[in-house]
Formats: sequence, C-alpha cells, structure tokens
Amino acid sequence: MQIKDSFEFGLIGLGVMGRNFILNVAENGFSALGYDLDPRKVESLKKEGAGLGKIGATSNLKSFVESLSRPRKIMLLVPAGGIVDDVIAGLLAELKPGDILVDGGNSHFEDTNRREAQLRKLGIHFFGTGVSGGAAGARSGPSIMPGGPAGSYDQLKPIFEAVAAKYNGDPCVSYLGPKSAGNFVKMVHNGIEYGMMQLTGEIYQVLAQVGGFSNSDLSGVFDRWNRGRLQSFLVEITSKIFRQKDPLGDGQLIDAILDRAKQKGTGKWTSQNAMDLGIPVPTIDIAVSMRAISALKAQREQAENLYPRPEPVPVEAADLENLCEQALYFAFIQTYAQGLHQLCEASREYGYGLDLAVVARIWRAGCIIRASALEDISQAFELEPGLDNLLLSKRFTAGIRSCIPAVRKLLGIAISSGVPMPATASSLSYFDAFTTGRLPLNLIQAQRDYFGSHTYQRTDREGSFHTEWAE
Ligand code: 6PG
Repeated sequence: MQIKDSFEFGLIGLGVMGRNFILNVAENGFSALGYDLDPRKVESLKKEGAGLGKIGATSNLKSFVESLSRPRKIMLLVPAGGIVDDVIAGLLAELKPGDILVDGGNSHFEDTNRREAQLRKLGIHFFGTGVSGGAAGARSGPSIMPGGPAGSYDQLKPIFEAVAAKYNGDPCVSYLGPKSAGNFVKMVHNGIEYGMMQLTGEIYQVLAQVGGFSNSDLSGVFDRWNRGRLQSFLVEITSKIFRQKDPLGDGQLIDAILDRAKQKGTGKWTSQNAMDLGIPVPTIDIAVSMRAISALKAQREQAENLYPRPEPVPVEAADLENLCEQALYFAFIQTYAQGLHQLCEASREYGYGLDLAVVARIWRAGCIIRASALEDISQAFELEPGLDNLLLSKRFTAGIRSCIPAVRKLLGIAISSGVPMPATASSLSYFDAFTTGRLPLNLIQAQRDYFGSHTYQRTDREGSFHTEWAE
C-alpha cells in the first residue's frame, strides 16, 4: 500500500530502540515513517504513535522510501554487523544521490569507514552515529554522536537537536567529525561504560563482604553518593537496583541474578583499538577481562573450594563507605582520562578532528556514562587547549590528589580480605605509572638488547646503541 503523504524522517528497524526513537522524533513535531519487515512491529508503532503527531509505519520498503521527502533522511536502528550491510544493499535501488543514511547502531568503526566510502561513490551521505541511553533515552532524549560528511549534517541537525537529551538547555548532540568519528566516540563511550560498571561492582563487593552492608544499606550509600560528586546515571540506577524486590521469589532481585555478565563487543573493541593506537586503557581492559572471568562460573566455583579466603579485615562501616566514595571517584576519573586519551590519539591518527570538550559536553546528559564530573571534564578540555590526558589538567589535580591515600588504604583492605578489585587496582596502577617520571622499562630495553640485539637509547646522548653484554 502506498503511503501518499511525504514524511521528513524515516526509520528502519522498529525494535525497542527504533520504536522509541521514532516516537521521540514524531513527538518533537517531525513527520516520521517507520519500516520493519515484521508486521506486528508496524502495527504496534501505529498504535503507540496515535496522537503523537504525524507518524506512520509500513512493511513495504519501496513505498517507505518513496514516501520520504528529498533528500531522504533514513536512520537504521538494527543490530550491528551483517544486517546493516543487508539493509543498505536492499535500500540502494530505491535511493537517489543526495539522500542521507544514518546508522544508529553500535557498528564497528572500520565497517562504518567501508560503508561511508562505498556510499559516497553513489552520492549517498552516510552517518555512523552513536546513540546512547537505552530505550528510555531513545524515547525521552538520548545522547547522539554523529559522524560523517560535514556538509550534509545541517539536514539532520534540527531533528537530532530536537530529540536529543538536554543539559541546561544544550542538546546533547554535535557533529563530531568525518567518516567513523561518531561510531568511534560511541565505542569509547561504551569502553568507559564497561570500566565504570566494573568499578561499581567492585565497590559493591567490598562494601558487602568486608563491611557487611545489606542491600538496603547499599541502596542508601549509592543514593547518598548520587547527591555528591559521584552523581551519575550508573550510581543512581545502582541505588535503585539494590531496592528491587524479586518478582519471582522472596528477597531482593540482585541476589537472584547470576553473576555472569554478557557483552556485545564494544568494550572489547575499545581495548583492541587502544592496543593498536598504543594508548593505555587498563581499567577498560580489565573490565572486559572480568566479564570473561565471570563467564567461567563452573571453574570459579570449583577453585573457590581449593583456596580458603582470608577473614575480612575489620573496618568501621562509616570509614569503609568513605574510602569507597573516594576510590570510586578517583577510579571514575581515571577511566574517563583513559578513554578520552584514546579519543585524542584516534583523532590524530584517523583525522577525526575531535573536540574533546564537545565530546564531554554531549555526554553530560542522555547517555549511560553521564555524570556531573563531565561538566568539569568538558571545561578542562575547553580551557586547556592541547590537553591529551585529564591527569595533566590543573582542574583535577587537587581532587585526584586528595583521594589517593584512601584508594591505597581501600585496596590494602581488599587485598588482605581476598576481595578482588582489579579495575580499582588497575586505575591506581595506571595513575602511579602515569605519574612516575622514571619507570623500570630501562630494564626491558636492556633485556631486549641482551637477547635480541634490539638496541636501546641512552639518557645522556642521542642515537641507538647495542652492547655485547658480558656473560
Ligand atoms: C548505551 C549502551 C548501549 C548498550 C551497550 C551494552 O550507550 O546506550 O552502551 O549501547 O547497552 O552496548 O553493551 P554490552 O551488551 O556489551 O554490555
């Protein structure tokens, strides 16, 4: 059936994210047409969209494309991977030069580069665009991270600015750079998300096992923290999670959830790419590894019986809470510092031209890693041009410095009590290494030269040196 009216915005993929995003677009006054092969999703969008402005839905791809005003603005919200290629292949016959395609999924940035280059040859403008905030964000205001051909962004800007989350009235969206800049920024956002989630989990374990905090105590702690410098979406939802009753049994839901975390790959991609760029992101690396360790449930249970655990070190609950607050703040900042450093290097390497102040600014609301600290972070990058790493920002020195004794003390307690806190420890080790002028890597250079004649440089003169090392 041909839908006669012409719509300003098209959305392919009416799953949870797509449905919510298109409802948000329609509610903001843009006529929007959805497409999905599944007629049930088409019907449910029509029902949900009734009364929300001009919104339609269809399972007919040809009529979908023909019903959009030119240049067409079509967003894909389908699972990352081959499906994106399949959808693009199916659309090509219907599109015309000048049309705009937006991939709003968590696509790998190299796939986005390939698609952008292919589509550019056909005159189609392709935007790899990070969308963060889950279903609720898509409906009421996500953080949007678009990258692609700069000249066409003006076509998308009014829609994206209307639907994006607002921070003090500022829309949490900005054109970020060419090619895969948007997907890349979203990938690192997710890496930071992995780090922050793992850190929060470690704090939960040490408070529960060493401090004897109940779920209700934990809910209170995270709620208190959410009113201070730790204010963030993840801290806020953590407080709520500890209050949730189990709908299928007695007690709290958190205690009934299996401790095996799944992953779709964006955290791993962040780590893999950081290795390629030569930028250290150890908090993110360990967060990815901990999801892998969590999957080894049977082995962990077997091993637990082989190695007795030490008794928890006695600590006053209030003291432990205080140490944890400082450690979590410290480690959150280290995680942002690592991710943003990776973005800084990627921007140079891939020519993205990222403005890190802008990146931090569009993360202040809507996205999963939103936090009050991002306001300070965006100001640091704005006021200190050329800043590569937050640890070098004067704005953060005093705050970080004041937390260090607490982080060391907490990790001492955790280690003595046998509570694993690898992301917190990695954050501190990263900090210790980053702030050490002379590391023992001179020995590594000596060893490399000893066994492989790989040469070394000296501290007192230029050039490369090799030594016939005495036996
Ligand atoms: C977001 C999230 C979103 C998704 C993660 C989950 O910003 O809205 O990051 O993209 O929830 O990709 O990733 P894992 O399944 O790998 O934990």
